[in-house]
Amino acid sequence: MRRYHSGTDFRRAHSIAELAAMARRRLPHFAWEYLEGGAEEELTLARNRQGFSDIGLLPRTLVSCLKTHTQRSLFGTELPLPIAIGPTGYNGMLYRDADLHLAKAATERGLPFTLSTVSTSSLEQVVAAVPEVNLWFQLYCLRDPAVQHDLLQRAKAVGCKTLLLTSDAVLLGNREWDKRNFVRPRQLSLRNKLDVLRHPRWMQQALWPNGLPILGNVERYLPEGQRTIAGAAHFIGSQMDTGLDWQALARLREKWPHQLILKGVLHPADAEKAIAFGLDGIVVSNHGGRQLDGVPASIDCLPAIAAVAKGKLSILLDSGVRHGTDILKACALGADTVLLGRATLYGVAVGGQQGAGHALDLLAQELRLALSLLGQPDLSQLDRHGVLLTTSSPLTVS
Ligand SMILES: Cc1cc2nc3c(=O)[nH]c(=O)nc-3n(C[C@H](O)[C@H](O)[C@H](O)COP(=O)(O)O)c2cc1C
Repeated sequence: MRRYHSGTDFRRAHSIAELAAMARRRLPHFAWEYLEGGAEEELTLARNRQGFSDIGLLPRTLVSCLKTHTQRSLFGTELPLPIAIGPTGYNGMLYRDADLHLAKAATERGLPFTLSTVSTSSLEQVVAAVPEVNLWFQLYCLRDPAVQHDLLQRAKAVGCKTLLLTSDAVLLGNREWDKRNFVRPRQLSLRNKLDVLRHPRWMQQALWPNGLPILGNVERYLPEGQRTIAGAAHFIGSQMDTGLDWQALARLREKWPHQLILKGVLHPADAEKAIAFGLDGIVVSNHGGRQLDGVPASIDCLPAIAAVAKGKLSILLDSGVRHGTDILKACALGADTVLLGRATLYGVAVGGQQGAGHALDLLAQELRLALSLLGQPDLSQLDRHGVLLTTSSPLTVS
């Protein structure tokens, strides 16, 4: 049993897990469950970690590691690390202006930041606060074509060149904690309201004086009088386009002239289709175990996808990344870059920009150390044959 530092000073956290323990103490129960929870029995959530644990590393010895190389070239940009911050909604519920803090922490380190459609800060606010940001925008496909068109125009207008279409959440996964914690959309149960009172530091930092933040990107589309977080949640729920299919993706491809990435691919046949539809990348993702419970870990799906897609489009991976060794394993199995979800959310939840930066720095240090210890200090030379021993056989799909 690990014993973590018992305070909330993020600088004393030595791992992402320790940051998570701090976030858990700082946040009221409903916000913690929102951050941490998965769907139904959380089988997939657990598999995401197990998948990484099941991959062993086989080091080479007597290899000089005076210098490590972790750079990645992605969509014409040189990244110092194979990392981007992925899209997460409602971040301002964890820490005031969390989207801005995440964007600043990523930008300081030369990494991309992805803003969710359901972010609390808007596209325009992020760019105004962090003009240098390498901003990616995550799109949920919405029923109203005028709203969808306007969102795309706004993303273009602020200089966003990378669009991620999320395909695995047109219907929200069965998140039991969500149903327990709220009696109506965004209406906390009495038990949770009382729990909130036991977290005065969070209340003062995230809630006071205006209450829960509204969703910055969609606020302008809400009818007058419904511009609240409850109104926004209702709007998004009613707007999700459940008819989203490959034809809709082809139309989006025509409308979006820059990089287009499909987020939520687990089957190699879908990776092949993404190539055929002219996409620039895919995210091998199960949405952090928050959607269909029982699907495999993303990392277990990666080898079969890399076998058909490597070199034909960029392969990103998320779900369960908590250590530098996880990033190393993902890259060795064919990912160009990982997306971080909860890892940087824990950081931002305890320490805003500095906390998110601490999470990124921990992962970067761990990655460099792991590359050196593996005897493979150059990330670009890493592949599955030389260095990896898989204790569970990688998923093969026929
Ligand atoms: C609190 C939370 C909110 C999320 N919101 C979104 C979102 O708005 N759009 C989206 O495409 N994915 C969303 N995701 C999924 C993440 O982009 C990512 O796929 C997932 O977090 C990766 O798993 P990990 O957190 O275990 O790293 C969310 C995930 C979390 C934990």
